[in-house]
Amino acid sequence: MDQYVIKGGNPLVGEVEIGGAKNAALAIITAAIMTDETVTLENIPDVSDINALLGAISFIGAVVERVDRHTVRINGSTISGSSVDYDLIKKIRASYYLLGALIGKYKKAEVPLPGGCTIGSRPIDQHLKGLEAMGVDIKIEHGDIIAEASELRGAHIFLDMASVGATINIMMAATMARGKTIIENAAREPHVVDAANFLNSMGANIKGAGTEVIRIRGVQKLHKTTYSIVPDMIEAGTYMVAAAATGGDVTVTNVIPKHLEAISAKLKEIGCTVEEFDDAVRVASDGRRLKRTQVKTLPYPGFPTDMQPQIAALLTRSLGTSIITENIFDSRFKYVDELVRMGASIKVKGDSAIITGCEKLTGARVEAPDLRAGAALVIAALSAEGVSVVEDIVYIQRGYEDFDLKLKRLGADITGVDSTRFFRKKNEVQIS
Ligand code: UD1
Repeated sequence: MDQYVIKGGNPLVGEVEIGGAKNAALAIITAAIMTDETVTLENIPDVSDINALLGAISFIGAVVERVDRHTVRINGSTISGSSVDYDLIKKIRASYYLLGALIGKYKKAEVPLPGGCTIGSRPIDQHLKGLEAMGVDIKIEHGDIIAEASELRGAHIFLDMASVGATINIMMAATMARGKTIIENAAREPHVVDAANFLNSMGANIKGAGTEVIRIRGVQKLHKTTYSIVPDMIEAGTYMVAAAATGGDVTVTNVIPKHLEAISAKLKEIGCTVEEFDDAVRVASDGRRLKRTQVKTLPYPGFPTDMQPQIAALLTRSLGTSIITENIFDSRFKYVDELVRMGASIKVKGDSAIITGCEKLTGARVEAPDLRAGAALVIAALSAEGVSVVEDIVYIQRGYEDFDLKLKRLGADITGVDSTRFFRKKNEVQIS
């Protein structure tokens, strides 16, 4: 299937269980190859980015065994080379974690430079700067990063920006460096903390993850562990916003409410009911138009950039004018033209989107430009009048497990279809 056909108007009601965080799992799966012993990872989401990464590590020789849908066993003792094939990982940005993991373990790595990305240019200069400070010699040749170190030594690294990827990559390499590494201006996202907890469970010595200063004392060897991935705050946030957009009442379960505070606070501010439990959050709205607001994306604990498109979809129908400012990525408004095709009134000026709330959205044929923007279009379609077709759902499948099934269980009228079996007649949409 490559499209969702969605008939809007059904309020989402019920409970939805949230899976493991894709972004934490990408880092942790890579870090798992740093020991020669077997690592068992639980709560791994079954999404295409993760499956591609598992394919990539098995290509370089790791043994990957899927115990069940959400549990994998990884053994990195059989890795035969430190060179990673471009075709296998070109679509996963987080393939850059292989650099930190392979350099840490083998003091040598040859990894394709990640390509361009639909949400903006994403340099990795901070990753490279950190590794160089630890004694790694880095060359870029024929599209590959070729990294080698005669000896990996601890260093004092000050990141220019609190980059999630650079923090985790440096943390992985530093785990097996000689001496002490200090990362200043480190990212504080929950998946940085999860990656540190995982490495510590393998015998690493990392302190301060979740704060701006992380201290790592290098160890000689890492050992086996069993570890469960942290719940996905972005998956949870997406269902919370979908509940608000459809005038529904949804409880997201298996979450850490603290991680969702920026999203919960924004939903409360615009008029939703938000209730927090130990490991669940309930979001309800009575279907009346919500209030306008301002959203500024910021590193954690600020409002996450990965929730920016979804909240924009919700605010298209708010009362008054909302302003969204994107501070992390430079090209994250690609969904705007698609929402406008559904009747939204949005103007983009520089790094801000100005959204004038409208009475209703109407179903249309739209294309998902990237993962989170794709989820936003689904949210818009669920709240719109009539039928929408969301194309290119391959992006959505990179990060949401069973998105259509979970929405259907909450009462959505959504069907995944294969476009070759799909016909469109005037304004009517039918599935053959
Ligand atoms: C991760 C997440 C992504 C999320 C982002 C911000 C993964 C796999 N992806 O991406 O979903 O949107 O965090 O929360 O976990 N930057 C540089 N140089 C660098 C590194 C980053 O200039 O070396 C810039 C980026 O262009 C961006 C900002 O720093 O403007 C933050 O990027 P970063 O936190 O590194 O994002 P990712 O780790 O790529």
